[in-house]
Amino acid sequence: MRFEYLKPEILDILNNTEATVNERLYALCNLLRESISYYDWVGYYFRNGDKEELKLGPYVGAPTDHTIIPFGKGICGQVAVSNENFVVPDVKAQDNYIACSITVKAEIVIPLFVNGENIGQIDIDSNTADPFTEDDERLLEFVNQKVAELL
Ligand code: SME
Repeated sequence: MRFEYLKPEILDILNNTEATVNERLYALCNLLRESISYYDWVGYYFRNGDKEELKLGPYVGAPTDHTIIPFGKGICGQVAVSNENFVVPDVKAQDNYIACSITVKAEIVIPLFVNGENIGQIDIDSNTADPFTEDDERLLEFVNQKVAELL
């Protein structure tokens, strides 16, 4: 996996018990965005209590109006329902897509499971067309497995 070298730094951030969980997630998003050139917006959405909606958590990148996303809406809302990775090489080809910025060309969303339950997701927007490979999926699955241990 192309991103193996990032794992120690990811673990250092997540194991830093002097920071709150949200501070650690923010630092993690920042690390990913700084380390991978085509990651332009990196953030977490979490299920909002018992509601059928996602709520924006820690993120880095341009501020977004989409702080609440109903289940089923957009790429994020679809992953909340499907429980599966969603890799979008070209956002223009998607009907059910919520645009956060006109510069975004591609998106990847990886669900986050705690005890088998889909409780949120990491969402990454890219201003580069079709940049994501299986290495991104494996990296982000690893990240979410480690984040799940904190929650
Ligand atoms: N594009 C997402 C919305 C969230 S923003 O990318 C931050 C979607 O279609 O669900």
